[in-house]
Amino acid sequence: MTEAKAHPPLISMRNIKKSFGSVHALQGASIDVHAGEIVALVGDNGAGKSTLVKVMAGVHGWDAGDYEFEGKPVNIKSPADANALGIQTVYQDLALCNNLDAVQNLFLGRELAGPKIFGRRIRRAECEIRAKEVMARMRLGNLSLSRPVGAMSGGQRQNIAIARSILWTPKVVILDEPTAALSHSASAQVSSLIRTLADEGLGVVVVSHDIHHFVVEATDRIEVMRLGANVASFKSEDVTGEQVVNAMVGGNEGVNLAG
Ligand SMILES: Nc1ncnc2c1ncn2[C@@H]1O[C@H](COP(=O)(O)OP(=O)(O)OP(=O)(O)O)[C@@H](O)[C@H]1O
Ligand SMILES: [Mg+2]
Repeated sequence: MTEAKAHPPLISMRNIKKSFGSVHALQGASIDVHAGEIVALVGDNGAGKSTLVKVMAGVHGWDAGDYEFEGKPVNIKSPADANALGIQTVYQDLALCNNLDAVQNLFLGRELAGPKIFGRRIRRAECEIRAKEVMARMRLGNLSLSRPVGAMSGGQRQNIAIARSILWTPKVVILDEPTAALSHSASAQVSSLIRTLADEGLGVVVVSHDIHHFVVEATDRIEVMRLGANVASFKSEDVTGEQVVNAMVGGNEGVNLAG
């Protein structure tokens, strides 16, 4: 399709294979991520979801298959390579420092530094302004920026981790289990946050086991993996949680309702 050529997916992974010794974690996995869409990656434990997103994020190399970013083959060898392309990942443990406040966490390891002549002092004021901008953009303006994040709820911490990932305006954000251990209302907040990101044109990839409350309701497309390969694709609006779960456990071979 000419239109598809004019706007290639941000990410296109085809037939990716990855083994750890004798464990064939990925046996030909594929995924496309377009600008402005939220793609869910689902599957039973051990299906290969985390391995696929780790290949996407440069944590693992891959043994075979094609990985293209904006239509061009890439050779991502490290998370730094992925970051440089505009791929950011929010891992399940969030990697936040509980004793630091939101601003400090947002800029952890990459604080805005003053001119070298002043010994690169961290400019707290500038970080605060930047943090406020990002939080406002994400409609999180009412989150306290000066409380230690250890004192915040799981949902608030998740939101800060997501805010941190978008500080440098990535093109793709990957979230591994963003709603695990969150209450229903906190999950709803995360859902609306990732929709805001997609509406701004980011591609969002979410790994989730929360099929009924999150995947079906908050995403656009669903890729189902089993034993390291894709077994079904759905448009989220066309499918029930039960159909997705059936595909995960093997009830619905090779279903493709994604159009
Ligand atoms: N670093 C590793 N070394 C060896 N084997 C691994 C490694 N990472 C993953 N595996 C194996 O690869 C397979 C896929 O694991 P992966 O973590 O990708 O599954 P998953 O779909 O994310 O599962 P879960 O839902 O439990 O998180 C599993 O058999 C797992 O044991
Ligand atoms: Mg996993």
